[in-house]
Amino acid sequence: MSRIVYVNGNYIPEEEATVSVFDRGFLFADGIYEVTAVVDGRILEFDGHIARLKRSLGEVGMEMPVSEEELLAIHRELVSRNDLAEGGIYLQITRGNPGDRDFVYPAKDVPQTMVLFTQAKTLVDSPVAAKGIKVIAVPDIRWGRRDIKTVQLLAPSMAKMAAKAEGKDDAWLVQDGFVTEGSSCNAYIVTKEGTIITRNLSNSILPGITRASVLKLVEETGMTLEERAFTIEEAKNAAEAFITAATTFVCPVVEIEGVELSGGKPGPVATRLKDVYIAEARKAGI
Ligand code: PDD
Repeated sequence: MSRIVYVNGNYIPEEEATVSVFDRGFLFADGIYEVTAVVDGRILEFDGHIARLKRSLGEVGMEMPVSEEELLAIHRELVSRNDLAEGGIYLQITRGNPGDRDFVYPAKDVPQTMVLFTQAKTLVDSPVAAKGIKVIAVPDIRWGRRDIKTVQLLAPSMAKMAAKAEGKDDAWLVQDGFVTEGSSCNAYIVTKEGTIITRNLSNSILPGITRASVLKLVEETGMTLEERAFTIEEAKNAAEAFITAATTFVCPVVEIEGVELSGGKPGPVATRLKDVYIAEARKAGI
């Protein structure tokens, strides 16, 4: 069934949706994006995603093309028009179409391009999360501002393809000997003592919206948390590992670089956090 997508103020069938060849998103990856989960036809973590969107836009000198209220209305309209019960909404804002290719930013009066579309996906009863994923390690070759959610995603795509080529599910990215994050997720390990470790926030990683909520839950449930860099060696010796993202929620990692974790099955900490996160996020859906 064809989706109805949103392009610059219009709701149109996906086959009819077009963006110019001169769009800076296409020519320069000059765009910011967000992916927001939908469960029970309701939008999860909207405030967090919009706050990060505003920050990302600000960091590259772009503005919000519409108000927060309008953005929520568009998200809801897309959920309704596409009858989306579970999955995600992709949002992309680019610096628009100046009518030619030029490295210099266009004048402020060139309208930004805004595109949104829905993607149906099983999130709550995800078969992938039930089994856990296997990851490899690859060098983190991305640029220096990974805290900005830009659409320049070739390096993460290459990392994911490297994992697929080895018959694995995903790649963890390593810089200067330490894991930064996953190709499109934040990365965590759980020590044998039960301490949860994840990379501290900086320009090296994306500040995940799921990460923020999960870390709040970790603290509320009295678990020990360390926000610091860790190595692949430390990860291989961990009791458990997991990832977080709006597209996976909390997903256990059961193998790192060929080394099985928690007996090759999702560990108890990751499983508990997955269940608690889903319950809380679902309750707060709008
Ligand atoms: N990716 N780190 C990276 C590099 C990411 O691309 C993502 C999300 C995350 C997790 O952020 P959040 O919890 O806010 O989804 C961390 C999205 C889902 C994507 O590119 O599809």
